[in-house]
Amino acid sequence: MKIFSEIKQIQKFISQLKDENQTVGFVPTMGALHQGHLSLVAEALANNDVAVVSIFVNPTQFDNAEDLEKYPRTLEKDADLLKTLSEDILIYAPSVADIYATKVEAEHFSFDGLEHEMEGKFRNGHFDGVGTIVKRLFEIVTPDNAYFGEKDFQQLAIIKKLVEKYHIPVTINGCKIHREANGLAMSSRNTRLKTAYRNAAPFIYETLQTANEKFGTKSANKVTEWVYQTFAKHDLLELEYFIIADIETLKTVKRKSNKKNYRAFIAVYADDIRLIDNIALK
Ligand code: PAF
Repeated sequence: MKIFSEIKQIQKFISQLKDENQTVGFVPTMGALHQGHLSLVAEALANNDVAVVSIFVNPTQFDNAEDLEKYPRTLEKDADLLKTLSEDILIYAPSVADIYATKVEAEHFSFDGLEHEMEGKFRNGHFDGVGTIVKRLFEIVTPDNAYFGEKDFQQLAIIKKLVEKYHIPVTINGCKIHREANGLAMSSRNTRLKTAYRNAAPFIYETLQTANEKFGTKSANKVTEWVYQTFAKHDLLELEYFIIADIETLKTVKRKSNKKNYRAFIAVYADDIRLIDNIALK
């Protein structure tokens, strides 16, 4: 297993691979890896000659200093987990200075309005930070394929837009949400949940599943009202938003159309831990 921390080293290594016509599959992460990440890496390994995993807690995508500080950093454990898939995975774990030099600032992007919906409303500057780091990592790693989980569905849509707008020669692959046996979407933040909240958290996906059933016969407004009422009665989980959106524009659906596809999106606080999830609607 090779771990690179400097841009020059990884660029040199990747340029040799490219000279040998090897394809590179890339999984950008912030570490604290779980089975969801491993499934992305498994896809990268299956469909490319080499898999690169970046591990970098990107400061410019956090709008909350405490969340950034408490974000789990577990490089050794992450490397051990990756080894269970293959000894040949390349890890790129740069420092903040390596990526940002002396100016830890995000670029400003327009993603044709996708950035103003949902997470964009509640996490100030988040998608500028994500756009900045993903663009930078793509420049460094120059992957043929990159893999992102559908748990961050809005992020996935924004990265597809980034690649289109900047003509970045990489194919973006969206991968299904990985869930615990109890339905909770896997997330690095789950490790920070206190027991009572961890036990309560599967309620989020249960609610999404029921919302999906209700959407078969009820309007988006009625389903949304039901979700808000349901969470209002919950002692531990605090709903930040629930919306049913068109998967192309990510705008809240006003009137259902058979020609469009919808997804329900949710953000919930379990104590001070913010959890997001989503579900494709029938
Ligand atoms: O999804 C994440 O873990 C991060 O937002 C990403 C894509 C690695 C950028 O920091």
